[in-house]
Amino acid sequence: MISSPSKLFRATPAACCLLLGVSALLLSCKPAPGGAAGDIIKIGEYASLTGKEATFGISSHEGTLLAIEEANAAGGVLGKKLELLTEDTQSKPGEPATVTTKLIARENVVAVLGEVASSRSLEAAPICQQNKIPMVSPASTNPKVTQAGDYIFRVCFIDPFQGTVMADFASRTLKIKKVAVFTDVKSDYSKGLAKYFKERFLASGGTIVAELDYNGGDKDFKAQLTTIKGAEPDGIFVPGYYTDAALICIQAKQLGLTVPLFGGDGWESEKLTEIGKDAVEGHYFSTHYHPDVGTDISRRFVASYKKRFNGKMPDALAACGYDSALVLLDAIKRAGSTDGAKIRDALAATKDMEAVTGRITINAQRDAIKSAVILQVKDGKFKFLETVQP
Ligand code: PHE
Repeated sequence: MISSPSKLFRATPAACCLLLGVSALLLSCKPAPGGAAGDIIKIGEYASLTGKEATFGISSHEGTLLAIEEANAAGGVLGKKLELLTEDTQSKPGEPATVTTKLIARENVVAVLGEVASSRSLEAAPICQQNKIPMVSPASTNPKVTQAGDYIFRVCFIDPFQGTVMADFASRTLKIKKVAVFTDVKSDYSKGLAKYFKERFLASGGTIVAELDYNGGDKDFKAQLTTIKGAEPDGIFVPGYYTDAALICIQAKQLGLTVPLFGGDGWESEKLTEIGKDAVEGHYFSTHYHPDVGTDISRRFVASYKKRFNGKMPDALAACGYDSALVLLDAIKRAGSTDGAKIRDALAATKDMEAVTGRITINAQRDAIKSAVILQVKDGKFKFLETVQP
């Protein structure tokens, strides 16, 4: 476990016993139900800090941590300091269930933040739901995530919208008529986004000339890309994660495919350009946020994130992580309590809240209705092209 925040604010039983003296020892150190042990509110987080989607977890964790630290510096919530308990899912199936169970059963957290990848959020959501512990996903966009129950929320848009955004971008902006779709069949996110993209693209009069699959983590995509090349598409939609997307761009280039490739938020990582280099140049993806978004809260966030993390620029995941914590802390304040059901009700009532990625209103499905941005890889950076309103 990474006891991130802020060792500073972490009052371990040993430390609190030292402070309070022997007589108060047993009473003060026994964790109260609901995680509100003494003057601390424990918040759980599960994130892919290592493994093939590590940059997702690192960024979202940093954003989350920053929000928690800022809240603590401002006096905490309900008069208590916050403690963020972060667990690494290692980008692996099986881990989300293990670590959220641990956070809830052993650490007594009052709520859980996570994950980025939809398949991993889908694994942990039923556990949070059964235990009546609210969960807020920063960036999982598959619609099924919040369908796990009334304790499960997200602060991002969902893929029926993202699929539409990229289908319209392909047909209207890139003037593409024939698309090949290349899907990661191991990922709920990829399968969902491929489906929503196709529905919209076909409805706008486009043709899908090839549909191929891969398994996330594959290294060789040449066989499928050769088939795709034979189908002569004007563009290739790759709704996958950055490591695979970068390798697909490299191998497409090697096979002489010169048409645009484009994807969704799963492409968002500095690793995309690190791995893909010139093979990812010129290609496009949609995501949740770009630091050029000029709102005051976004500017403040960029400045404090850079200061906190050695000059690093925040990406969309960092912003989503930050927003997930903002929304949760705001709900705990309005609930006036760390009771799971009360936090859930307050989360459900979140309305027009100012956040870094946009104003957040939680709808009846516990999703946020938000705009998307479209970025292009340009000179090894992500260039902001446009914002698409819901
Ligand atoms: N939306 C992706 C999913 O649901 C995760 C993701 C979000 C990746 C934002 C990158 C940026 O799996």
